[in-house]
Amino acid sequence: MEECKPILNTGLRGVTIASTKVSDVRGEEGKLIYRGYLVQDLAESASFEEVVYLLLYERLPSTAELGQLKQQLVANMPVPEGVIQAMQTFPANALPMDVMQATAAILAQYDPEIREQSRDATERMGLRLIAKLTTVLAAWERIRSGKAPVTPDPDLGMAANFLYMMTGDRPSEEVARFFDICLVLHAEHSFNASTFAAREVASTRAHIYAAISAGIGSLSGELHGGANVRVMEMLLAIGEPEKAEGYVNQVLDEGRKIMGLGHAVYKTDDPRAHILRPMSRRMGELSGETKWYEISRILEERGKAAFKARKGTDIYVNVDFYSASLYYAMGIPTDLFSPIFAISRVAGWVTHVLEEQYADAAPKPMLYRPESEYVGDYCGPDECSFVPMDDR
Ligand SMILES: CC(C)(COP(=O)(O)OP(=O)(O)OC[C@H]1O[C@@H](n2cnc3c(N)ncnc32)[C@H](O)[C@@H]1OP(=O)(O)O)[C@@H](O)C(=O)NCCC(=O)NCCS
Repeated sequence: MEECKPILNTGLRGVTIASTKVSDVRGEEGKLIYRGYLVQDLAESASFEEVVYLLLYERLPSTAELGQLKQQLVANMPVPEGVIQAMQTFPANALPMDVMQATAAILAQYDPEIREQSRDATERMGLRLIAKLTTVLAAWERIRSGKAPVTPDPDLGMAANFLYMMTGDRPSEEVARFFDICLVLHAEHSFNASTFAAREVASTRAHIYAAISAGIGSLSGELHGGANVRVMEMLLAIGEPEKAEGYVNQVLDEGRKIMGLGHAVYKTDDPRAHILRPMSRRMGELSGETKWYEISRILEERGKAAFKARKGTDIYVNVDFYSASLYYAMGIPTDLFSPIFAISRVAGWVTHVLEEQYADAAPKPMLYRPESEYVGDYCGPDECSFVPMDDR
C-alpha cells in the first residue's frame, strides 16, 4: 500500500522547518528576542549598528568593537558609480521595492568577492549589502526627483545618514534617534516570509546577493512588508479623525481587512507597536500635524472592539500600524516605507544566510525541497498523449 503523506495547505503555519540561534518570536507572550535580548531593551539602549553586531557576531560589542563596525559600515556605504548610472536608467515611476531588488542584484556584479564561497567572504559581502542598500534607497529618492545623490557623511550613523542622503539636510538628534529605533525594531523577525525566502535561496548555495534580492521581493507584498504603505494609504483615505470609526465598520461589513491589524504569530500586541505608538505621537507633534496619529489611535481602539464584536476573537496591532504615521510625519514618501523595512531587515537576512550556509551545529541545514500533491489533470488513469498543433 502506498504511504499516506500529510498534505499541508496551511502556509507552513505551525511547521518547524529548521533550527536557528538568531531570534525567537514568542507570539502568545508578545515577545521578540534577538540573540537572547528583548527587542524593547535593544530599542531603548542600542543603536542599529549595535544590533547588526549582535546579530552577526552573537554578542553585544565592546566600545572598540562597535566603533570598528561603524567605521566599516560607513566606509562601505558609497555605491559604485556604475550602480548609480544603472539606477539613472530606471523609470522615475518604478516601484521602489523593485528598484531595491534589482539594485541588490546589480551590486553583486560589482562585488570583487562574488565568486568566493568562504564564510568570511560571505560575511564581508553581507556587511557591504547592509551598508550599501541604505545608500541605494536614499539615492533612488534623489534620482527619481531629478536631484543628484548625496554622498554619505562618515561622521553620521546609518540612520542619520539615510535621512541626510535622502533630503540633503542633517536630521536633529531626536529625529535621527527615532529613525535609528525603527531600524532596530525591524532588523529581525525569525522565519517570516522574506527570511524564509532568503534562506531558501541560500540553501541552494546561491550567493548572498541572490538571497537578499529574493528576501526583498518577498517583503514587497502587502501581507508582509508592504502593509505599512497600505496603512498610510488607509489613513490618507480616511482623512479626518471623525471618519475613522465609520471606516472601521464599513471595512469589516464588506469583509475587508484593516491594514496594520493582525499577525500570523503574535496573539497579543506586537511588542514593536508599543514602542512605535508614542514615537508616532511625538513625531506628529514635531511635524505640526497630529491627525495621522489620532486617526491611528481611533482605528486601533475601534478596530479591535469591532473585530471582537463580529468574530468573537481578539485582533492586535502589528509593527506596520504606527510605523506608517511615524514615517509620514518624518517627511518620508509613502512608497519608501517598505524599502525602509528592507534596509533594516537586511541585517536579519544576512545573519540568516550565514546561519543557513555555515551553521556549525547539527543538524546542518540542507537544500529546501518540500513536496506537493498533484491535483491537476491526467487523461483517464494515464498521462495525456501529446497532440500536434495541426490536430488540435
Ligand atoms: C497579517 C495577516 C496576514 C495574518 O493572517 P492570519 O493570522 O493568517 O489571519 P487570517 O488572514 O487567516 O485571518 C483570520 C480571520 O481574521 C480576519 N482578519 C485578519 N486580519 C484582519 C484585519 N487586519 N482586518 C480585518 N480582519 C482581519 C480575516 O478576514 C479572517 O476572518 P475569517 O476567519 O472570517 O475569514 C492578516 O492579519 C492580515 O492580512 N492583516 C492585514 C495586513 C497586515 O497588516 N500585514 C502586516 C503583517 S506584519
